Amino acid sequence: MQTSAVMRVDRTTAIGLEQLTLELSMARGLDEIMAVVRSYARPLVGADGITFVLRDNGKCHYADEDAISPLWKGQRFPLENCISGWSMLHRETVVIEDIYADDRIPHEAYRPTFVKSLAMVPVRRDDPIGAIGAYWAQRCRPSAENLRTLQHIANSAAVALTNVSLFASLVAAKEEAVKAKEAIIVAMASLAETRDNDTGNHVRRTQHYVRALAEACAVRGVFADELTPAMIDLLYKSAPLHDIGKVGIPDRILLKPGRLDAEEFEVMKTLAELGRAAIANAERQFGTCMPFFDVAKELAHTHHERWDGGGYPRGLKGRDIPISGRLMAIADTYDALVSERVYKPAMPHRAAVDLMAAETGQFDPALVEVFTEIAEDFENIHRFFADGA
Ligand SMILES: [Fe+2]
Ligand SMILES: [Fe+2]
Repeated sequence: MQTSAVMRVDRTTAIGLEQLTLELSMARGLDEIMAVVRSYARPLVGADGITFVLRDNGKCHYADEDAISPLWKGQRFPLENCISGWSMLHRETVVIEDIYADDRIPHEAYRPTFVKSLAMVPVRRDDPIGAIGAYWAQRCRPSAENLRTLQHIANSAAVALTNVSLFASLVAAKEEAVKAKEAIIVAMASLAETRDNDTGNHVRRTQHYVRALAEACAVRGVFADELTPAMIDLLYKSAPLHDIGKVGIPDRILLKPGRLDAEEFEVMKTLAELGRAAIANAERQFGTCMPFFDVAKELAHTHHERWDGGGYPRGLKGRDIPISGRLMAIADTYDALVSERVYKPAMPHRAAVDLMAAETGQFDPALVEVFTEIAEDFENIHRFFADGA
């Protein structure tokens, strides 16, 4: 009879521990880990109170608790002055049947509490980062089973804490890699740009124009299916590469102050294909297909196409030109018009907008309409990233 009762208790404990381990393995932060320990540990260990203590700069931080009446939640004690610190420093489990008979216990801190007996286990025994304490209101010696359960909880919490810290460093490393990638893209693009433009600000401006125009379209329901938030983000990030093909155009053509003759224009038209090929090359080096490269290639390849089919390199027409190229055509042209170049003065904002609105054949009419509605945003972007600024 007694054996089956013990077995029943053991099975309940085993199921509880299994659930606790599962939930700890899914925890993504310290708060979640502590919440799992808080909700499972006390009944599993059969204690009147549980504390979750973190090692924090030479202090024991009593970070969380679940107890029949308050213990020390939120308080910090020097490692040397409390039993959780002793357990961490000695990497040992401590069991104290009568706390007032043990001089490792700061009796004053315990007197206002219910605690008569305790057990304390370090979390991550080989290099403790915390401890879990169990407390009893009646003087008792916790059973070997209770201690094993407490140790199991501490071990699972240690694994979960390690996972959380690995996960956090993984996220940080990924964010850093993304930032580095974006910085390199802008640097590369600016380098191409500075061949015929003193600053790299054209690439910054065009990425902001494209985003502003794409967002305004999405809000108005213009090509909203294509212009999802994810697509707009890709457009924004890949836009700086639209003129990367300039690196392959000879100076005598790229920097020619006057109009290009027919033969020179043929060379200039290779810019779009050179850009696409340069990005495709980077993509091959990267070794994996990413939507970023697709949008960047498309932008570089198609932003000199015209709505009426008279553009280059392929003479695409209407909606055969991808939305990325149709947006960039507007951004690129506006910026070229309102910016000063060695061979031409800057056109005033209003005149540029009117010219583009009156133009038939170069741009997607639906996009031009939205452009005229938000032209002030373009003006502000141009002012914010002014050349020489
Ligand atoms: Fe261009
Ligand atoms: Fe451009």
